[in-house]
Amino acid sequence: MYKPIEIAEGIYSVGCRDWDIRDFHGYSTYEGTTYNAFLVLGEKNILIDTVKEKFADELLSNISRVIDPKKIDIVISNHTEMDHSGGIPKVMHKIGAEKPIYCSKMGGKNLKSHFNKDFNFQVVGSGDELAIGNRTFSFLETRMLHWPDSMFTYLKEEAILFSSDAFGQHYAGDMFFDDEIGDEIIPHARKYYANILLHFSQRVQALLKDVTAMGLKIDMICPDHGIIWRDNPSKIIEAYDKWSRQEPSKKAVVIFDTMWESTAKMARAITSGIESEDVNVRLMNTRKWHRSDIMTEIIDAGAIAVGSPTLNNNIFPVIADVMTYIKGLKPQNKIAAAFGSYGWSGEAVKILNKEFKEMEMEIVDKGIRVQYVPEEDDLNACFDLGVKLAKTLKERLV
Ligand code: FEO
Repeated sequence: MYKPIEIAEGIYSVGCRDWDIRDFHGYSTYEGTTYNAFLVLGEKNILIDTVKEKFADELLSNISRVIDPKKIDIVISNHTEMDHSGGIPKVMHKIGAEKPIYCSKMGGKNLKSHFNKDFNFQVVGSGDELAIGNRTFSFLETRMLHWPDSMFTYLKEEAILFSSDAFGQHYAGDMFFDDEIGDEIIPHARKYYANILLHFSQRVQALLKDVTAMGLKIDMICPDHGIIWRDNPSKIIEAYDKWSRQEPSKKAVVIFDTMWESTAKMARAITSGIESEDVNVRLMNTRKWHRSDIMTEIIDAGAIAVGSPTLNNNIFPVIADVMTYIKGLKPQNKIAAAFGSYGWSGEAVKILNKEFKEMEMEIVDKGIRVQYVPEEDDLNACFDLGVKLAKTLKERLV
């Protein structure tokens, strides 16, 4: 529980911190997360989003420290994924099931499907407004950012954007605002973008252009996860602009798994070759690094090298996991190379090249296969592959 925080006059952050969560549908949340919800008091009292079902009582308890939850008149649901809507049934039971839930068309459909219940859905779309007293809530659908139902709610008078998942971070700590935590929050925001939104980068670019064209004044961004951007909201908007452009940088990531250290030796030689060309490089063993941390390093890299031993005529299971994950998030503008040791059949490099092709990565070399244990010549060839990858990257960056 955290005590409700008044973030603007009559507007409270009333959500919950999930200190313990370490796996958020396959994403490593090593600092937990928060499920933010916001209470706006006025002529009508409005709750924007709820929390994961198991935190619903805690949400109601937080609200009750500000007002009697029964005095909530309206719920706005910006997003129906269960970390934000799981608490809706309990909240509605408490405040009165007949009260309206404002949501997008897909939001209503999803909520009905999840809860098998027809609440009093009030469907809104982009440009619709809800004027109550001296406040105006404006809605902006953000389809596929990152679900079909996703939308933003913008409070015009206070220039506050309630942005659902966008601009969020999986971070549960003792700080609640950007000015309290400073740049320490950026790696969390970057990881969030890389693992949740990268796939939708074109839509992010389009949304940012729309918001700019609308001339939307934004004094505060309240995402549904992590800290609130109140001091410098433009910082996270600019970061989203940069990340969604997917422009490659002079950086490579070497990803590998190893059976008897042969592919590990190859990976280290390739890494040395890359470094010899003054290209930054991260060497990431898939047994030591979580797939979501590997993905975070990939977003700004211009080159990747992936190594796998051949196991049962295939790539290693953990490499398959990581490649499937990367493929789903659709990173753009990468060059790539494969490598790996084998005993007798040696299919791994061919399979990795096929994966690169499907990911529309430019394969700079046919790749290196080494039988059993790499000898000096093999390691020299790996070093040279690193050099080739780095040189090609630098040419592409000119
Ligand atoms: Fe935080 Fe898409 O839910």
